[in-house]
Amino acid sequence: MSRPLILGVETSCDETGVAVVRGHEILATVLSSQIDAHARFGGVVPEVAARAHVEAIRPMVHLALRQAGVHSDQLDAVAATRGPGLIGALMVGYSFAKAMAWTLDTPFVGVDHMEGHLFAPRLEHEAFAPPAVVLLASGGHSQIVHVKSWGEYEVLGSTIDDAAGEAFDKIARFMGLGFPGGPAIDKAAEGGDADVVKFPRALRDRPYDFSFSGLKTSVVTYLEKAKAAGSVPPLPDVAAAVQEAIVDVLVDKTFNAVEATGVDRVAGGGGVLANRRLRVRLEEEANRRGIALYLPSPALCTDNGAMIAAAGEFRLERGDVTPWSVDVSSSLRLSDL
Ligand code: KG4
Ligand code: ZN
Repeated sequence: MSRPLILGVETSCDETGVAVVRGHEILATVLSSQIDAHARFGGVVPEVAARAHVEAIRPMVHLALRQAGVHSDQLDAVAATRGPGLIGALMVGYSFAKAMAWTLDTPFVGVDHMEGHLFAPRLEHEAFAPPAVVLLASGGHSQIVHVKSWGEYEVLGSTIDDAAGEAFDKIARFMGLGFPGGPAIDKAAEGGDADVVKFPRALRDRPYDFSFSGLKTSVVTYLEKAKAAGSVPPLPDVAAAVQEAIVDVLVDKTFNAVEATGVDRVAGGGGVLANRRLRVRLEEEANRRGIALYLPSPALCTDNGAMIAAAGEFRLERGDVTPWSVDVSSSLRLSDL
């Protein structure tokens, strides 16, 4: 039997993502990034994000359907991110998708954004299935999740302050590298020597939790001192050292969870998983231990509509169709699903 044809809509933060997906086949995926709109503020401004989604949502849905060669009345379901995220941004995609499903008389599925990230590796890797440990690291979240089965998630660890992507963004802003900071540091670190300075790795005594706010403080202190002494190392070296400090703890703690749970599959999702150094380090560690690693391609690590469609299919098949009365929720939690 053929898998359902699903429209996935993602507007939880600063990307309007729309995709048409059938099973593992992404028929179309389109993205309208708001990076330029937010860059001059050095971060995502919620009001600016919501307005940009309003402008983009209709043309993006039309574009995705056209690229997929699909008419809206062929859709078996419409899925949209319900939360967590910026409330005004969420409301745009969710309301649009709900209205569309209502008009088409087709099921509507409100999707947890983080569950979407958990499903992203499956789009490209048919073999990926629970039980697995999944590292989720983005601008808003850093979590290590034990996926026991689809729909059954234990969040083993999370950040006690900033998310990993937030750390990249804040440190890059301080270093004058622009927004978003993750890709900027990834690029600036090319050819750099990470051993030139060793920034601290926080929360060594807690196996799965993260803390990144202290890293920013130590980078600021280090660079101010180095400037005063007239001995600032080359930019690639500092960028590589910052990147290594973040990557080190992400990799260490992910594999702590792999050891504790005894799973033999590890995966990742969220914008930070697009980081080239992190991908290499995860791969090295997985190979060393003979564990299968499933990473989405970078475009499916960052926010996108396809992952929402994939998680939407799972929920649809389970009969978790969202009633019309259910609204967005900025504070959804994976462990409550
Ligand atoms: O998943 P995502 O697109 O949106 C959120 O749900 O937050 O993640 C965005 C985050 C940003 O903080 C961005 O700096 C980071 O992912 N990011 C990266 C890279 N590409 C995006 N961080 C490190 N290296 C990258 N190449
Ligand atoms: Zn995300």
